[in-house]
Amino acid sequence: MTELAIEARGLIKRYGDLTAINGVDLAVPTGTIFALLGPNGAGKTTTINILTTLIQPTAGEARVAGHDVVRAAERVRQCIGVTFQDIAVDQDLTGREVLDIHGQLYRQSSAERRRRIGELVDLVQLNEAIDRRVRTYSGGMKRRLELARGLMTEPAVLFLDEPTQGLDPQNRVGIWGYIRDLNRTRGLSLLLTTHYMDEAEALAGRVGIVDHGRIVAEGQPNALVAALGADVIRVRGQGDRAHFATVMAGLPFVDRVETDAEGGVVLVYVDSGSRRLVEVLGAASGNAFRIDDVTVARPSLGDVFLHHTGHALRD
Ligand SMILES: Nc1ncnc2c1ncn2[C@@H]1O[C@H](COP(=O)(O)OP(=O)(O)O)[C@@H](O)[C@H]1O
Ligand SMILES: [Mg+2]
Repeated sequence: MTELAIEARGLIKRYGDLTAINGVDLAVPTGTIFALLGPNGAGKTTTINILTTLIQPTAGEARVAGHDVVRAAERVRQCIGVTFQDIAVDQDLTGREVLDIHGQLYRQSSAERRRRIGELVDLVQLNEAIDRRVRTYSGGMKRRLELARGLMTEPAVLFLDEPTQGLDPQNRVGIWGYIRDLNRTRGLSLLLTTHYMDEAEALAGRVGIVDHGRIVAEGQPNALVAALGADVIRVRGQGDRAHFATVMAGLPFVDRVETDAEGGVVLVYVDSGSRRLVEVLGAASGNAFRIDDVTVARPSLGDVFLHHTGHALRD
């Protein structure tokens, strides 16, 4: 196994006039959970589709587990598992049949398939539901089956496209647990995509912030957040926001001010939120800006997204 589970340089994918991704670089160390975090249309699925050999890039190159995704696509397929954003399995099959057919596709012996299915049913706790038709499954059960399918071939690198999209909080946390265990106990390398910043925060050892087909920032979540400053005072209000932001930026203890035009929020980065809140409110009182709502917090990955893209990450 190479040191990097995934590496990509200058990946571009065009569909006619539309550029789906526009120069994606990646370096995912083996044994890492890496999250591509970005809004719908950012190019996450396109990136996964290239890395999993489903489509070819217009330009650029990538290697997965040391194999080139274009020149050695077959080798790449032998090393990876994939779970898709839109789960498309035959609803009339049972969970066991879905897994068994997948194993057959990869020419696993029937003994191997039986052993593997037994393990995976335990892992994702589908239990007796494994012999029911998929159409009877809840959304969470379908996601767990999809995760098991991705693991049938004991991959070294697992790709998860929006693994918890549409799930309720309890099921999301359940899936997060399986993902963490796979990484921790088997050293599996994972690349997942998500538009949920809490998912990236909860799971990822490293995160790539994706917007308009590019990775605009990359690193450990803590480091990306810490680079923004100590605390952020988020002010929502009405009136002359631009003037208010300028006044805030002039205060000596303010590191930086950012505005989210769509959401009408002004983010005031300060050395200490609890100490500076009163001063911020005081400075606001003489302005044509009426404050509706103020919160003080540590910056989040959502703030990192705003900082690098100029707009908010919304579901
Ligand atoms: N097969 C395709 N043909 C044309 N445009 C596509 C195709 N696949 C994706 N796109 C476009 O590429 C952009 C990125 O899409 P996608 O990779 O699915 O983003 P994400 O997964 O981050 O939501 C979007 O504008 C999307 O409409
Ligand atoms: Mg997608």
